[in-house]
Amino acid sequence: MQVTGTGHAGMRIDTPAGIILCDPWVNPAFFASWFPFPDNSGLDWTALGDTDYLYVSHLHRDHFDAEQLRRFVSKRATVLLPEYPTSELADQLRELGFTRFIETRSNEPVTLDGGLTIMIQALTSPTDGPIGDSSLWVEYGGVRLLNQNDARPSDLDEFARLGSVHAHLLQFSGAIWYPMVYDLPVTARTAFGRQKRERQLDRTIRYIDDLKASWVFPIAGPPCFLDDELWHLNDLGGDPGNIFPDQQVFLEHYRGLGRENGQILLPGSVAELTPDSCRLTHPVPDVAEFFAAKEEHLRAYAQRQRPVIEAAKAAWPVPGLDVLAELKRRIEPLLEESIYLAKGVGGPVRLDLTDSGGTAVESLVIDFPAGQVRRFADEKCRYRFRTQRALVERLLADGEVDWVNSLFLSCRFSAARIGQYNEFVYSFFKCLSEERLQYAEGWYDEHERSVDVEDIQLGDWLVQRRCPHLKADLSRFGVIEGTTLTCQLHGWKFDLPTGRCLTSVGRQLRARPAPPTDPAQ
Ligand code: FES
Repeated sequence: MQVTGTGHAGMRIDTPAGIILCDPWVNPAFFASWFPFPDNSGLDWTALGDTDYLYVSHLHRDHFDAEQLRRFVSKRATVLLPEYPTSELADQLRELGFTRFIETRSNEPVTLDGGLTIMIQALTSPTDGPIGDSSLWVEYGGVRLLNQNDARPSDLDEFARLGSVHAHLLQFSGAIWYPMVYDLPVTARTAFGRQKRERQLDRTIRYIDDLKASWVFPIAGPPCFLDDELWHLNDLGGDPGNIFPDQQVFLEHYRGLGRENGQILLPGSVAELTPDSCRLTHPVPDVAEFFAAKEEHLRAYAQRQRPVIEAAKAAWPVPGLDVLAELKRRIEPLLEESIYLAKGVGGPVRLDLTDSGGTAVESLVIDFPAGQVRRFADEKCRYRFRTQRALVERLLADGEVDWVNSLFLSCRFSAARIGQYNEFVYSFFKCLSEERLQYAEGWYDEHERSVDVEDIQLGDWLVQRRCPHLKADLSRFGVIEGTTLTCQLHGWKFDLPTGRCLTSVGRQLRARPAPPTDPAQ
């Protein structure tokens, strides 16, 4: 089996029984904020796109690059589809000209022609990707590979039971706006960033330890930020609070733990895998030197992409668009239908719109309890977002149904909140269509009703086995320090004496002190 890195979470898997191209991403994503790092635009995309199978893990735009798929990927390719609750991924691929699909069932292996076997695990909670994220497992000739991508399964048992894995490719770097966009004192922002950076590295190690693959490849990040306005987000200069460490940083950390099976897959790197070996060639003479000159590469890359960024910015404004009227038309019918999300948000969310120079021009409120969009009336709002009016005009003009997969991931906004993180706010903004909203409401309804009866002992405490957030197995992901339990899958914290979630509203953990053990036993 041969694996060629194509950048970010992308790869091409060559076997004698067929080629699978995964997540080809080249064009900037999220309002020209994210670019693949390292630059992969110089690869031979015509050759790479000549593939038998296409796997697009999910609809986030650093994985689903419509322009690249349209221009370069053979429409004869058969799409390997994850089992998602909505048909959006298949619909958008059809629009691009793909006609052949294999609709997989989550966690069920499928043997394709020539003895190539695949299995896709689909994660489908409203917080997984844009309603869905997935991982791809592949086996050919006794070699097994798991492209975990940026998915966060609660465990890897479904893959491990299929036999020992030779190559494990997974995310290790951040892919979110927290904490950088929050209006916080610099010291607090750095402290939160440091915590987040440590947590994502720990989580990666935990997955690696779970699967125990022969070879580990850190992929799916970090992106790089080439617009001057976002340049500070690149991990240059050793800021411990930066959440975007690169592959080299991860491998140094990994080696520091005594592990020697980590490998870097640059765009154009080729890994030849057998059951006993991994032979790697790179497109650069010295990988360490390449990363040592990262800033230089980024500056040259930014220079090349400047016209692309300028053109994107010029297309944002929609003169004459009445933002308030359009938001009312789009959002109020959804507020009317929403039970769980609207109740979960529980208060007004303020949206401050600015001109391109950052001066406020309009202040609006989405009032979840009242089911209204209206002008801000000087009330207290738990969440406040501030962004350019032109971006919101563009979202509305394009009928964007997912503001996470556009505005929020762009990091082109600032935020402030009173109190804890509220997952319902972001879940709502990714469900701005009837189909998505209905799915999310149904999911939360089922989640609320499901009773988790099993308890486990962690340290001196008996706690419910499954995390109240997304049901991670706390016997694996739970860590207790003092009287706080942290679930390391997403880092949520719980106060053990009260069960109260310290990270987000509306989640309670069942916990009580474990009975003392009889010393005679
Ligand atoms: S499953 Fe998300 S924090 Fe536990």
